[in-house]
Amino acid sequence: MDQIVSEKHGVVGGYVPERPDWTIAQDWQAYSSEEHGVWRTLFERQVALMPGRACQAYMDGLRDLPIDADTIPDFEKLSDVLMRRTGWQVVAVPGMVPNDVFFDHLANRRFPAGQFIRKAHELDYLQEPDVFHDVFGHVPMMMNPVMADFMQAYGEGGLRADRLGELDRLARLYWYTVEFGLVEEAGALRIFGAGILSSFSETRFALEDASPNRIGFDLRRVMRTLYRIDDFQESYFVLPSIDSLLDFARTDFAPIYDELHNTRDLAAAEVIEGDRVFTRGTGERTR
Ligand SMILES: [Fe+2]
Repeated sequence: MDQIVSEKHGVVGGYVPERPDWTIAQDWQAYSSEEHGVWRTLFERQVALMPGRACQAYMDGLRDLPIDADTIPDFEKLSDVLMRRTGWQVVAVPGMVPNDVFFDHLANRRFPAGQFIRKAHELDYLQEPDVFHDVFGHVPMMMNPVMADFMQAYGEGGLRADRLGELDRLARLYWYTVEFGLVEEAGALRIFGAGILSSFSETRFALEDASPNRIGFDLRRVMRTLYRIDDFQESYFVLPSIDSLLDFARTDFAPIYDELHNTRDLAAAEVIEGDRVFTRGTGERTR
C-alpha cells in the first residue's frame, strides 16, 4: 500500500469496505496462472537489476523472505517471517485506502498491501499500488529494524499531522524516503525506496541517468519539496545511512511544521543554496 498522494487516499470510486480497516482476504488460492505469470515476469526482470543498485538492507530482506519468481507471495507466509524479525505483518487491501486507515495500520505494525496484480499488457503502468509494488518494493525493507520502527512512527505521525493540517509536509518525507529514497553505502549510491525498486526503468534512471538531481537528505528541505506523481522524480535525496531514519522516528515534527510556515515550497527540480549536491541533473527528461 502506498501513500502516493495524500489526496488520493479514500478516492476509491464508490467502494464500500466490508471491514472498517479496509482489509480483505488475500485469497491466495484464487490467483490465476496468468497472474502468477505476471508476477514471474516482473520479478525476474527486476531482481536482475538489484545487485549493485539496491541497498544491503533490501538485499538481506529479500533473501530472508518467502518471495520468489514462482508465485505471488502468500501474505501469511510473509507475515510469519516478518513477525519474528520485526513484529510486522502484511495485510491485504483492495487498493488505496483512506489516510486515517493507512496510518492506523502502520501505527500498529501492519503493512497494507494491494491484493491485486497489474495486467500483463501494463507491466510499467500503475494507477494504484499492486502486490508487486507493495510486496517486492516495500516488504523486504520492513525486515530491517530501523525501517520497521520508522514506518510505525510514520503511522503515528500521520495521525498527528492529519489533525494539524500538515499532512502534505509529512507525505513529502515518506515520498522521498520510503518511496524514492537513495542511501550512501561504501561511497556509492544505492536504492531503498520502494517506488524505485519496483520500477524497471526508474531503477536505472534514479542511479544512472543524467537528468535528475541527487541531493543530500535534509529533513526541513525535503518537507518543503514538491514531488512528481506522473513521471520519474526530478530530484532524489540521499540518506547517509538507513540507520539515520531512526532520528526521524524519534522526532516530534510539530515544531518543525511551525518553523516551516513562512517558507516557500520548492519545485521538484530546484537546487538551493546549502544543498549537498551529489549530482546536478541536466533536467533533460522533463524539459
Ligand atoms: Fe508504495
